[in-house]
Amino acid sequence: MFTKILTRNFDQPDLHEMEVYEKLGGYRMIRQALRRHTPEEIVQMVQRSGLRGRGGAGFPTGIKWGFIPRNSDKPTYLCVNADESEPGTFKDRHIILHDPHQLLEGIMVSAYAIQSRRAFIYIRGEMAREAAILNDAIAQAEKKNYLGHRIFGEDFDLQIQVVRGAGAYICGEETGLLESIEGKRGQPRTKPPFPAVCGLYGCPTIINNVETLINVPHIVANGPEWFAAIGKDPRNTGPKLYGVSGQVKRPGVYEFDMTITLKELIYDVCGGLTENRALKGVIPGGSSVPILLPEEIDVAMDFDSLAARGTMLGSAGVVVIGEGTCMVRVARRVAQFYAFESCGQCPPCREGTAWLHKILQRIESGGGHPGELDLLAEICDNMKSHTICPLSDAAAMPIESYIRKYRAEFEEHLSRPGCACS
Ligand SMILES: Cc1cc2nc3c(=O)[nH]c(=O)nc-3n(C[C@H](O)[C@H](O)[C@H](O)COP(=O)(O)O)c2cc1C
Ligand code: SF4
Repeated sequence: MFTKILTRNFDQPDLHEMEVYEKLGGYRMIRQALRRHTPEEIVQMVQRSGLRGRGGAGFPTGIKWGFIPRNSDKPTYLCVNADESEPGTFKDRHIILHDPHQLLEGIMVSAYAIQSRRAFIYIRGEMAREAAILNDAIAQAEKKNYLGHRIFGEDFDLQIQVVRGAGAYICGEETGLLESIEGKRGQPRTKPPFPAVCGLYGCPTIINNVETLINVPHIVANGPEWFAAIGKDPRNTGPKLYGVSGQVKRPGVYEFDMTITLKELIYDVCGGLTENRALKGVIPGGSSVPILLPEEIDVAMDFDSLAARGTMLGSAGVVVIGEGTCMVRVARRVAQFYAFESCGQCPPCREGTAWLHKILQRIESGGGHPGELDLLAEICDNMKSHTICPLSDAAAMPIESYIRKYRAEFEEHLSRPGCACS
């Protein structure tokens, strides 16, 4: 039986008010961190906990923090990735809406660990309400000297600033995000150098996802061994938020350890599909990951089990698709998104995403030609592993999986106009 950790207080009224958060034990963990632990100890604890980034790639957080050069004469920055523009993903905004102080406390402990005195929360422009909630929480914290000079009366200064993006998906990619904060066009940078060494304004920078950071105070308070024991698998530790949407009876954000299976999530937690329709497929981790067929959903919702099934945990945005949905239409819509969001720097991505969209549009409207499914597969192949950032791969991989797994449906669309699904 899993007991909620990150979302345990989300039902409490007025949790965004400092007094409510503190009454429930809030801001104790940052005090403990500042008084009892050195920054290096916290980095080590996070390493030992096995925490992996919740933003998509699953990179071990403590290891990333360890890449910050010691004794640099430049300031170190912490950038919090709250862009959350991946279709099907809405867990981070859920955290911010319900419990902004938990995020601030996560930032405080993490900033102390990497010795960053300046943190930026980069939030997608459309999330105006969430940005206002964060700014209000920051103002409350500044008033009590929980932010600013010598926070909590200890020898550590910290400022947190909210930066609103302008709605570009590519600004969620960590180096696109840095460019955007610097006021430039959001185009990813070539790596190396990696941001931990040369990031924001050329200074050492850590970029972490919102959900990643709210785990950190719990690791400090309860110990890395406690965290590592959650989930039973040493490579997939700690609590995890899943955002489930699409044709399920009870969509929403749910917290479990990573032993929960996709099947349990859909049928036991979300009550199965609306109108009890049959399942056609599930996107387990946001629009950029390959789809799973109904017979593939008895799989643990962790990084490695999903990788072994040929897909990814990604952003843990689970999109449930029922029978009656046209997969050609799904493919065209996903391709349209990536064609629109490609930043255009790399020809395989710029041209590839545009071609995928054009061809799928033609197939959907009944004007496709025989051989175009193979052409799509070839374009997808050429889009992978040749670009500055992974958006190109992220556009190609789901399309490939739709064609491979629902090929008969695509072929049917080629042979006659219109769609048997609608
Ligand atoms: C096109 C693209 C969009 C991304 N969007 C997000 C996002 O909205 N939020 C996020 O946390 N990570 C996003 N990422 C992943 C980030 O580049 C980065 O890996 C992540 O913020 C690191 O945080 P973590 O280690 O805590 O997961 C995106 C990556 C790509 C390639
Ligand atoms: S892969 Fe696409 S989005 Fe990423 S840098 Fe290249 S063109 Fe831009």
